[in-house]
Amino acid sequence: MDLGFRGEVVDFYHRFRRGYPPTVIDSLVGAFGLTTDDVVVDLGCGTGQLTLPIAERVRSVVAVDPEPDMLLRARRAARERGVANVTWMIGADTDIPTLGALIGDRRLGVVTIGQALHWMDHEELFRAVVPLVRPGGGVAVVTNGTPLWLQNTAWSRALRGHLEDWLGSELTSTCGTDEASRRRYSDGLAAAGYDVAVTSVDYLDELSAEQIVGGVYSALPVDRLPSPEQRPRFAERLCHVLQPHRPFTEQVQVTMLIGRVHVSAAR
Ligand SMILES: C[S@@+](CC[C@H](N)C(=O)[O-])C[C@H]1O[C@@H](n2cnc3c(N)ncnc32)[C@H](O)[C@@H]1O
Repeated sequence: MDLGFRGEVVDFYHRFRRGYPPTVIDSLVGAFGLTTDDVVVDLGCGTGQLTLPIAERVRSVVAVDPEPDMLLRARRAARERGVANVTWMIGADTDIPTLGALIGDRRLGVVTIGQALHWMDHEELFRAVVPLVRPGGGVAVVTNGTPLWLQNTAWSRALRGHLEDWLGSELTSTCGTDEASRRRYSDGLAAAGYDVAVTSVDYLDELSAEQIVGGVYSALPVDRLPSPEQRPRFAERLCHVLQPHRPFTEQVQVTMLIGRVHVSAAR
């Protein structure tokens, strides 16, 4: 499936998608008892939003994504940040079982999935991870706030209306951030033999109009991105629609589903 995380969309993704606050990384480190001896897999790593801050807390991260342009941008971001313990791999959730042969007797601390599980076969994936992790390790399913156009604020509703008119279709996908998805993933973890806990980090942010426009570009498939010539007009119209609803405040909720394998299941 072509998800369109290519070309210019990648730069928009890198510039405008929010990262994760340090408290989120602290929660993950605490939940799985991660140390500088641990190897972590970050699946669906994108441009490294979760990969890089976790890499600074563990021995090594294997960052996996099917989109070469995302990986290239992520690798550049790692270099810019001085992070040198990440291996960037083209791959998908379906490649996780073969990691067993690669890591041999070394077990993983955790497989993290930041804002990407909705593209994966989560039940298969959860089962595949069990034999790969050490006791106390597991899976972390992380979401990073509600899509900009689905929030319960006047500016978000105005944004949704405008985008739906422009795209000619309804915008309903929550990208796995809604309660029903979380319940489905939680049930999937429990069925695969994990102990499940949920935790969240909430904070208030204020966005600029430029951040909203960039956030929209970062979420469009590359073939729907307005051309460079069309962008000033696109941004102008969007700003006009948003203007009456300033300030653009956002209540961000980062949720973490923590699935720890039973000690008896981890080899
Ligand atoms: C919305 S981005 C999330 C990036 C980053 N993890 C974050 O938290 O912001 C989703 C990423 O998942 C990747 N992806 C899509 N399908 C995937 C799959 N089946 N297996 C692994 N990654 C996948 C996409 O290429 C994209 O880079």
